[in-house]
Amino acid sequence: MDAGTAARGGDAKVRVDISHRYGNLLVYEKLDLGVRENEFVCICGPSGCGKTTLLDLFAGIMKPSSGHVLIDGVPADPKRQNISFVFQEASILPWLNVRDNVATGLRIKKRPAAEVARKVEETIALVGLQGFEGYYAHQLSGGMKQRVAIARAFATDADLILMDEPFVSLDQPTREKMQREVLDIWARRRRTVVFVTHNLEEAVFLGDRVVILSGKPTRIVADLEVKLPRPRDPVSEEFTRLRARCAAMLHAVHAEPRE
Ligand SMILES: Nc1ncnc2c1ncn2[C@@H]1O[C@H](COP(=O)(O)OP(=O)(O)OP(=O)(O)O)[C@@H](O)[C@H]1O
Ligand SMILES: [Mg+2]
Repeated sequence: MDAGTAARGGDAKVRVDISHRYGNLLVYEKLDLGVRENEFVCICGPSGCGKTTLLDLFAGIMKPSSGHVLIDGVPADPKRQNISFVFQEASILPWLNVRDNVATGLRIKKRPAAEVARKVEETIALVGLQGFEGYYAHQLSGGMKQRVAIARAFATDADLILMDEPFVSLDQPTREKMQREVLDIWARRRRTVVFVTHNLEEAVFLGDRVVILSGKPTRIVADLEVKLPRPRDPVSEEFTRLRARCAAMLHAVHAEPRE
């Protein structure tokens, strides 16, 4: 059974079964995708195919034209479930320091002050920002700001963490460091993550699964389970082979005739 078939069944924590259009623009004709609890799923696809749209649908901040997005069997609703976003540009609140930024999600959920303080300190330590608790956005580098956003997402008991190309504006060494850090915090906190990236090496390095999307109207071209043990070695033969397989699929998608 391939990964997608398994997660389309009853064991999915999150289930998307939708069609979506913006006015006359058909983005998804019929997309059926499941994500298991605590799974790390990477989504790749050509620019404009609807990856950010899909995350907005996952988050329940946008409704599909038809079909449904279910989290634990009920429709996705940001007021009801705990859904965290990490964007491409670090979205940290400039008027709050690092500690208060990380605390935001917990405070919105009205967690007791002692729990907020404990979780915030622990999570700040997990992303290596001890000593910077009192810093504001303008005093932090791009990588540090992204660490704050990641800490904020993982500090809560999020049902789902959505990440939209979070490392795209970082230099390669920082990006690789952040990839290892995000896996580390995910391994400790066990959350369900959907991570969008254009970078196939990143997808194969991070994901339990790599889902490859076509151009519009968008469908799933491949849904590959990555069985390589972590930490993964990007220069190993198996890694290189899987990455090349994903690249060939993406190239085929790019070569498809457009409407
Ligand atoms: N609010 C909107 N109203 C109308 N069209 C939209 C809206 N948001 C996105 N689109 C269109 O829907 C399609 C998918 O956009 P989306 O931003 O989801 O793509 P993407 O895969 O995230 O692209 P990228 O890789 O460049 O970030 C695009 O053709 C875009 O122009
Ligand atoms: Mg996008």
